[in-house]
Amino acid sequence: MEASKLPERAFQSKTASSSNTFQSKTALPQHLRLQKTVGFDTAPQDHLFQLIGQILEADNLPLSELHKTQKGLLTLRLAEQNQLKSSRGPFEKLWRRATGNELRGELLEAVQNFVRLVVMPDLGTDCVVHQPLPTLRIHLPHTGKNLGGRHRDGDYYRQPTEVNYWVPLTRVGGSNSLWAESEPGREDFRPFEGHWGSCTRFWGNQCEHYTVENETETTRVSFDLRCVPAALYDDDYRSPLSKKDKAHFRLGQGYIRTTKV
Ligand SMILES: [Fe+2]
Repeated sequence: MEASKLPERAFQSKTASSSNTFQSKTALPQHLRLQKTVGFDTAPQDHLFQLIGQILEADNLPLSELHKTQKGLLTLRLAEQNQLKSSRGPFEKLWRRATGNELRGELLEAVQNFVRLVVMPDLGTDCVVHQPLPTLRIHLPHTGKNLGGRHRDGDYYRQPTEVNYWVPLTRVGGSNSLWAESEPGREDFRPFEGHWGSCTRFWGNQCEHYTVENETETTRVSFDLRCVPAALYDDDYRSPLSKKDKAHFRLGQGYIRTTKV
């Protein structure tokens, strides 16, 4: 799908008026500002994959067929009756519940393993500050809803030395993916292509991105993990966009630090 043919609402950025007013003074090196496909060995990440499947109650179905499970069918029925309040649906509830209970520790360990084996070699550092747990996205097909409008993560007061690892657990592309510009202000939006074992690192803090309605026949499951090389991390970062005179995210409050063991 060409960006020019996307539904109008995909371009409605709530920050559109401020898009040229925030010039980041980031110290992020140029090569980390560019999109990159990062391949990884899936075997050491198998536990993380299995945990997510277990949490989403996929049973024996592939994650790309979550819409065929009981919860998936219920979601699609609600969408058909125009009663689906949020595109996020019941699967996100399962994720929230799991990350708030005894699985949290196990998940955290699996995520830190991902950081050590995938993120650290890519960033070229042995110490990374990151979200403790990633944000999980489940996008069922044909719900008539996208998963998020056009924005930059910096709009939400996050520090500009942060990069995103966008990790699909299913095959993604086209309307079943995240659309992002390649550099701030270029507006050359393209969907990420990938699968489990091939993720995208991008500067979501300053590059705009959005989703569209999933018009494919498969469910997209992906997670995104925001990471900062520890040497570039500011624990007292105050966004110029925030009215509050305090840091919104700090170590222990939205960030943890992982070092190589
Ligand atoms: Fe985002």
